[in-house]
Amino acid sequence: MNTFLTNIQSSYSRYFSGNPLIVCSPGRVNLIGEHTDYNEGFVLPAAIDKAILMAFSKNKDGMIRLHSVDMQPDYFETPVSKTYTKTGIDWADYIIGVVDQLQKTGRETEGFNCAFGGNIPIGAGMSSSAALEGGVAFGLSHLFGLDLTLMEMTKAAMMAENEFVGVRCGIMDQFASLHGQKDKVLKLDCRSLEYELYPFEWDQMCLLLCDTGIRRALAVSEYNIRRQQCETGVSVIRKSDPAISSLRDVSLEQVKNFREEMDDLIYRRCRYVIEENKRVTDACAALTRNDLNAFGHKMYQSHHGLRNDYEVSCRELDLLVEATEQLESVLGARMMGGGFGGCTINLVNKDTLDDTIKQIREHYLKKTGKKPEFYVVNIDKGTHLIKNQAFKNRK
Ligand code: GLA
Repeated sequence: MNTFLTNIQSSYSRYFSGNPLIVCSPGRVNLIGEHTDYNEGFVLPAAIDKAILMAFSKNKDGMIRLHSVDMQPDYFETPVSKTYTKTGIDWADYIIGVVDQLQKTGRETEGFNCAFGGNIPIGAGMSSSAALEGGVAFGLSHLFGLDLTLMEMTKAAMMAENEFVGVRCGIMDQFASLHGQKDKVLKLDCRSLEYELYPFEWDQMCLLLCDTGIRRALAVSEYNIRRQQCETGVSVIRKSDPAISSLRDVSLEQVKNFREEMDDLIYRRCRYVIEENKRVTDACAALTRNDLNAFGHKMYQSHHGLRNDYEVSCRELDLLVEATEQLESVLGARMMGGGFGGCTINLVNKDTLDDTIKQIREHYLKKTGKKPEFYVVNIDKGTHLIKNQAFKNRK
């Protein structure tokens, strides 16, 4: 963390002056509950020890000045304004999108500087974009005394992605990054936005992410299509009961009753979401019983649903899951996040971790000719300020 912090401080000083406020904003994993958030269902994410550090300060010249340490182009600036338009730079859109969202909800900001960089792999499904958005909402709230609650920041960050960036994502990623707690997973009810914490710290087990290395452009368009398909399913089932407003209101039995009235594809999408919600609840019950075998089993079932019914997996993700199916050291594995590439998440025995990695690598290499990347991640706290006395003294 220290070199990481020193790097951000020196990058900040290259462009800006003064003592910045420094925010640490983490990526996230999701243990189970995929594509359920925008259906008002349940998810079980956690923040991780991979993060973006962001250094913020005010300026008096009415400009928003941004410096990315890791991405090109590495600088963008625009005047503070009443309305904002797309910047033409992906990373800048996430930041300006949040400023735009704050403005729309009556929280005006003045000129500010921001330098940021981190170690969340981009596009791997660990939500580097949500970490950036949440970090901006958190940082600006502190810098300008906006007094936003964590949930207000979460919503501003999500709306920035929906309205400014143009991805109709649900609330899970921004929520997890901002609300995460060390060694706890968060069971979020995406309808009421109430959540419960479950301890997730085991002497024997760790979380291993296996990265396919695949980044597919169609992930965004297919994501929006899945959302649309779920809405189509709801509009059919609603005919029986106008009080139904999302798949959260629909039982497995109800959807089965409508099987003849909807396209098979729509039927399978709906069935998956309803079953996945139940799996989250069952997985949490397994955690309460300390039954990690049952928890891992739900992870595999989740993957099968995502592959067969929701159809958001891909050959590479399937191969990484398949590679673990005969390994005793892996209790559960599944694709994580939106799909079509990125990572699988695996619940793995620590004692045999090296051998597990070796076996997965060999299987993947044999079938694809490529080597996957591996990340062991720890569950860590959500977005927070970093005390920065040493730096202050130096200035
Ligand atoms: C992406 C979205 C989330 C969620 C997942 C799928 O990560 O940003 O809101 O829908 O996909 O569970």
